[in-house]
Amino acid sequence: MMSVDDPLTVTCTAPVNIALIKYWGKREEDKILPLNPSLSITLDVADLRTKTTVVASKQFDRDRLWLNGKEHDINNKRMQTCIRKLRQGADDLWRDGKLMIAKEEWKNYRLHIISENNFPTAAGLASSASGLACFVYSIAQLLQFKETFPGELTTIARQGSGSACRSLLGGFVLWESGTALDGSDSIARQIATGDKWKSLRVIILIVNEQQKKTSSTAGMQTSVQTSDLLKFRAKEVVSMQLSRMRDAIEKADFPTLATVTMQESNQFHACCLDTFPPIFYLNEVSKEIIQFVHDYNADNNDITVAYTFDAGPNAVLLTREENLEKLMNSLHQKFGFFPVTREGVTRSVFENSQSDRII
Ligand code: DP6
Repeated sequence: MMSVDDPLTVTCTAPVNIALIKYWGKREEDKILPLNPSLSITLDVADLRTKTTVVASKQFDRDRLWLNGKEHDINNKRMQTCIRKLRQGADDLWRDGKLMIAKEEWKNYRLHIISENNFPTAAGLASSASGLACFVYSIAQLLQFKETFPGELTTIARQGSGSACRSLLGGFVLWESGTALDGSDSIARQIATGDKWKSLRVIILIVNEQQKKTSSTAGMQTSVQTSDLLKFRAKEVVSMQLSRMRDAIEKADFPTLATVTMQESNQFHACCLDTFPPIFYLNEVSKEIIQFVHDYNADNNDITVAYTFDAGPNAVLLTREENLEKLMNSLHQKFGFFPVTREGVTRSVFENSQSDRII
């Protein structure tokens, strides 16, 4: 066999995704099987993203992980599950028609994983989504992971963090709840590219960069145990909202997409309030932003902007390019922040585009 450079290195980036139809609650904890399907848009990889470098060497004595410059324990159950499954699916490494590493050889290699986010971690800005998606994708690239069924890689990312499975794809992404006990049909797939939605813009309003008090994982667990509203939502509401949303995506109907997005965000936070003890992710500024959006739309007699909030107070606003300047000015007037700054409430403007993870 030819010799191969040791260490081997791969660097990938993965973007954040923003859920329009929310995932909140698992029907199975270990495999991370969701109560309901969810739908997201993937942001442009250049903006909010995780960048991960994976180095493999036979000289390393163990797998290690660094997040934003600090070493973290890689022995947590979720990451171990991902690594195990990725190793199981590893394949031969070929270069220029020559076999460099046979798949059986990978067991002798240990991994060093270096990951960094270019935005606040664990502040309800989907850092676990891009982080775990990048973790899984970059190891998969290095180990020449071969899917045994379409979407298998997304089922592995899902077991790192549920929402991570959606960050492996660009455009509009549906994560199916699935019915199989082994979770093999709970996959993420792209249902539409951003083509018809080229003018869609996403504005992130950073209200607070602090890490949230209640993690999504813990919060949704308590919600599943205590919230009747969540049960009702999963059974009666999501499928209806999902079909309205899919129809709106297909028809490029912004007002409907915006309406469903806001209703979904509100119902998710209502479920948090219905959880016992209640979980508060929104703060007073978040609520002011909600009011601002409704007033703005009413003043314009049209729905031209929508908000959505995940497990934190930071707002994500959706609008279209033609409305962007006016909206930014109004945000500036109302909140006194200069738009598009790193420090202010408005972080950046994103294009909804296909993600391109390999750099
Ligand atoms: C509010 O994917 O972070 O952002 O599966 O336990 O890792 P785990 O949870 P996570 O939850 C994300 C919840 C959400 C809504 C969403 O992204 O759909």
